[in-house]
Amino acid sequence: MPIRLEPVTEKFVARVTGVDLGKPLGLVDRADIVAACDRYGTLVFPGQHLAKEELVAFGAVFGEVDTTLQTKLMNRVQNRLGMDTLTDISNLDADGNVAHAQHWQTITTIGNRFWHSDGSYKDLPIRYSILNAVTTVGYGGETQYADLRAAYDSLDEATKVLIADKIGIFWSHNTRDWLKIADSPEERSAFPKVRWPMVRTHPGSGRKVLWCDSKVWAIEGMSLPEGRALVHELIEHIGQREHVYSHKWEAGDLIMADNRSTAHRGRRFDHSERREMRRVETNDNVRSLGVAADGEVG
Ligand SMILES: [Fe+2]
Repeated sequence: MPIRLEPVTEKFVARVTGVDLGKPLGLVDRADIVAACDRYGTLVFPGQHLAKEELVAFGAVFGEVDTTLQTKLMNRVQNRLGMDTLTDISNLDADGNVAHAQHWQTITTIGNRFWHSDGSYKDLPIRYSILNAVTTVGYGGETQYADLRAAYDSLDEATKVLIADKIGIFWSHNTRDWLKIADSPEERSAFPKVRWPMVRTHPGSGRKVLWCDSKVWAIEGMSLPEGRALVHELIEHIGQREHVYSHKWEAGDLIMADNRSTAHRGRRFDHSERREMRRVETNDNVRSLGVAADGEVG
């Protein structure tokens, strides 16, 4: 039976039913899901209570599953799920209990509250991010998704001209630095700063994308203050209500987002409440413009 699509808006976000993602996907379903993701950017699949292995298997249908964030950073601190192919998006300690406010896992979760596309700071970024909710909270904890194509389209002409040839320098620890999280020099340099055009074309839809998020440390050809002020302005533009879908999670919800055309952020919640999400990510096949020349870390 073919998958069923209910678009949230004409061009952004669709709810998908009629498929059990815990079972092997047929070629037709895979092609339909890729096409839907190309068009809508973000797909919501309710009622998908997947085992860890099933979630990884679903991600692997769409490309090489990324392990770099886990092996370079996260699993060196805590590896509760025991896998390099899954990211633990939770506020839980290694024993599965709700972590205290100063715990590394809790602090790391706070970094998700700023607009970003997963892997934008990497030379080989992430194409699809797939989040599966296990335990959800009462108040807050939504994930908001923004359409970076609509955000580009709605820029004024002068801004489009200003950023047409600009290159952003993206750094993994930009938000953690802003939050004053005390990471080691090794952690801060695990991913070197990389250069990306601030306007890209999304191959799945052919539309231009405003490629700017909270990982942008500087803009080439601009002073640091001028560049950072522009980044702040562009992120505010991306986060305007008309570009954004806000998802209130229920256990079993699975969201597949195309990072090439969308950005997202997590919303505040009470960290004493248990919240558990699992994420699998697939690598893109397009690389950045390379490592930033200065090699400087913050
Ligand atoms: Fe993310």
